[in-house]
This record gives sequence, C-alpha cells and structure tokens, in this order.
Amino acid sequence: MPQDKFDLVIAANRLPVDRVREGNRSVWRRSPGGLVTAMESVMSGRDGAWIGWSGVPGKAPAPFEQDDMWLHPIALSADEITDYYEGFSNGSLWPLYHDVIVPPTFRRRWQAAYEKVNRRFAEVAAELAAENATVWIHDYQLQLMPRYLRELRPDVRIGWFNHIPFPPVELFMQLPARDTLLHGLLGADFLGFQRRTDAQNFLRACRQLLGDDDVEVRADLVQTADGQVCRAAAVPISIDSRGMARLAATPAVRARAREIREQLGNPEKLLLGVDRLDYTKGIRHRLKSLEEMYREGTLDGARTKFIQVATPSRERLQAYQHIKSEVEQTVGRINGEHSSFGAPAVTYLHRSFPREEMAALFVAADVMLVTPLRDGMNLVAKEYVAAHDDTGALVLSEFTGAANELKQAYLCNPHDIARTKRTITRALEAPAEERRRRMRALHRQVLRHDVQRWAERFLSNLAVAPRQP
Ligand code: ADP
Ligand code: F6P
Repeated sequence: MPQDKFDLVIAANRLPVDRVREGNRSVWRRSPGGLVTAMESVMSGRDGAWIGWSGVPGKAPAPFEQDDMWLHPIALSADEITDYYEGFSNGSLWPLYHDVIVPPTFRRRWQAAYEKVNRRFAEVAAELAAENATVWIHDYQLQLMPRYLRELRPDVRIGWFNHIPFPPVELFMQLPARDTLLHGLLGADFLGFQRRTDAQNFLRACRQLLGDDDVEVRADLVQTADGQVCRAAAVPISIDSRGMARLAATPAVRARAREIREQLGNPEKLLLGVDRLDYTKGIRHRLKSLEEMYREGTLDGARTKFIQVATPSRERLQAYQHIKSEVEQTVGRINGEHSSFGAPAVTYLHRSFPREEMAALFVAADVMLVTPLRDGMNLVAKEYVAAHDDTGALVLSEFTGAANELKQAYLCNPHDIARTKRTITRALEAPAEERRRRMRALHRQVLRHDVQRWAERFLSNLAVAPRQP
C-alpha cells in the first residue's frame, strides 16, 4: 500500500480511528470497539480499505494507512452533519427504529442530505473496489448506499449489516422515504440483521409497502424487477470475547477493580450501568427502580452503591440534552437523600474511559444493570459476561438483541418498575451457586460466539447469497 484497488472495502459512518492530541501534535488512534477488532481479523491477508467520516466538519484529510488498513476519510460539511447525521440519521431513523421512544422528525431537507452523502460513500467505494470485490456496508446511516453502488459497480458483492433494530412495518411505514430506503437496501446481495425478528420486519415491509410489480418476496429472498435477488437473515454481532476475558484476568485490572471498591468505601454490593447517554438505554427507568429501592430500604445507600457510566453522545440534539438533564437531576436527588459523607450512593461518570478501566469496572461490579427500552444488541452486556467466568450477575432487558442469546441472565421488562426492582433484588440475593451456574453458561455462550465468528458468518453468507433467482 498505498494501492488503488481493494478486495474488501468496509463502509461505515465513522472511520475506525479518532484524531487525538499527543504532545503538541495530533495523531490518529485506533478507536476502541469490537467492530475494529473484527475487521482487523477479516482484513488480515487481504487488501482491505475502510471508508468513513473522520468526525469533524469540512475538508476530508488525505487517505492514509494505519494498522495495515487503508483508511479513506469522507468529507461532511457542517450542514451535512446537521442534516444527514444529526437530522435524518439520528432525528428521523434512530427514534423510528427504536420503537419511537421519542417522536421522530421528518424533514425533506434532511432526506436530500442523506441521499447526497450516501451517494458520496458509494462513489468512493466504487473507485476503491477491485473487480468482483466485496463491499461491506454498516448501519442505518448508509441504507441507500447499496443501491447507488450497485448502479455504479454491478460486479461487486454488496453486504449490509444493521447494528440497530429494524422496526415493525406499522412504525416503518411512517417514514416518508420508506420506498426509497427499501429499494436502497435491495441493491445489496445480503442484508444482515441482529435478530430474526428484524429480518422478518424488513421482509414484511418489502411485501407490504412495495408493489407486486416491484418485488417478489419468497421466504428470506426478495427479487426486484431488474431480476436482482437480495437475501435477508439474522447474524447477531458479538465482541472480542477472548480479548475482554484476558484483559479482565490481568493482575493490573484485578488490582484496579479492588481499588475501585475501596474508593467507594468497600460496599457490600456494587451495581453498575454503562451506556451511551441515549434515551433508548433505559437509564431513567433504571434510576427510578433504584431510587424506589433506596427509599423503601430494599437497598441501603451506605452498603449498596451504584456506578453509572454515561458516555456523552449526540449532544447537540434536544432529546439527548433532555435525557442528560433528567439523569443528572435524578442522580442528584438520590445522592441528596441516600449518600453518606464522602460516599455517594450513586457515582455518575459522564466521560469515556480506556478499555482497562472499563474492564476493571466490569470486574468490580457484583451486578450489571442493562435495561434498554430497545437496543439492537447491547455489547456492554456481552463485555460484562466475558469479564466474569463464574462471579457476578447480569440483569438484562428483554428489549435487547442480547436477550435472545443470553438466556441465563436475570431478564426484566424495564417498563415494569415493580418487577424490575424484584429482579434486581433476586440478582443481588440469589444463592452463590445459582449465580455461578448462570454466569458460567453466559460466559461460555459469549466466548463461543465472538466477533470474529460473527464477521466470518456474515462474509460467508454474503459470498453464497444468490444473485439471480
Ligand atoms: P451503542 O453501540 O448503542 O453505544 P453498545 O452497548 O452495543 O451500545 O456498545 C457500546 C460500546 O461502547 C461498548 O463496547 C462499551 O464498552 C463502550 N463504551 C460505553 N461507554 C464507554 C465509556 N464511557 N468509555 C469507553 N467505552 C465505552
Ligand atoms: O450502534 C449504533 C451506533 O450509531 C453506531 O453506528 C455507532 O458506532 C454508535 O452507535 C455511536 O453513535 P455515533 O456514531 O452517532 O456517535
């Protein structure tokens, strides 16, 4: 490298690197997260490129090589960030695809920007892909890209994976751009979803919303009028399980986990929540359950502590500002009523942490609370389980993709505050043998189904997807 054509091209809204300051110069550093690890493993031995936005407005930096990957930044102007990223992606699609927890907003200007940016991604992919290359597109920000790319490069194999849920047709049909979006996706050979229900929702949307002259849907295949076939199926994502298990077992992480508990005054029980500060994550419902438990005395503020890590996210959007101030107010109220000197009942951390610190938090926690109102998968649940082989307990919302696989978790409906409280109590008080049995089964499941296996499954599904009927 640098070369100009690649056998495997990854397209995602963001590049797998962040711009950070090192002394007085700024450098690219690999972003944390399983997707990057998975792509590294599937790219090794192949010529791979990744196209995505660098995270800042304006002119794109020149393409460059990092960790054996060719990275090709895509420019987004300040207006495109507002209209394509914050607008259509996170103001229309994100709430619509997450059960309309907040009402989605639809603007024609946002849709136009979404089309323009998706076309830009497709043009760059078309330039970079070698003949018959594989192009793997990620997530809801790029649903039109498969169609645009297909028009430019009929020879390439196109796969798309949705990291978030795909909504039931009754909700999806609200979207003014619904037909355009479905046709956009149908430009792919293979569409991967987190759950079977998501794939079925997509197939049902094609059947119900597109005309019989446009498409024919048979089982998991959709044939378009031009004779092209697209297959939709579930391929649930996972994490770098072995990497997390290894990290969690290191003496440094173990020592840091003990130190965290000491810093909190060695509580008898430590509860943990780790989320992007997003209204889909059920943080408000979780805090309500805990506040009631502290008030009723089911939890004692002096003996049971809760850490909530809430990563800043999409901070210019009103719905995110709203959830942030609600969470801050509730944490303040709980602490006002239930903390002791120097030892708050709730420790609220609104920032990002290195992987080692995250692992130490997972190891330190007796019970992990994962209570989204809707979540495509929820990787945090899998990370916690990978970090514990036979200790700890996971309280997990039924509305996560992870609940489909992590059956031995303490499952809860976060809307049902009374039962959620009982579930938290059960997880805290279950006999050690029960918790061990559950955690061993969960740990085995997550170690067996890791992110590398996911990537291989996706790519082999894509390789054999039928192009013609
Ligand atoms: P989402 O993709 O919606 O943010 P997931 O739970 O699937 O939710 O993935 C979140 C990822 O971000 C996990 O790998 C998690 O460990 C990581 N993460 C979350 N909060 C932080 C934080 N404050 N610092 C560092 N990593 C974080
Ligand atoms: O999983 C959904 C997702 O939007 C990913 O595409 C993204 O990596 C993550 O959440 C964080 O979102 P954002 O890129 O908007 O900060």
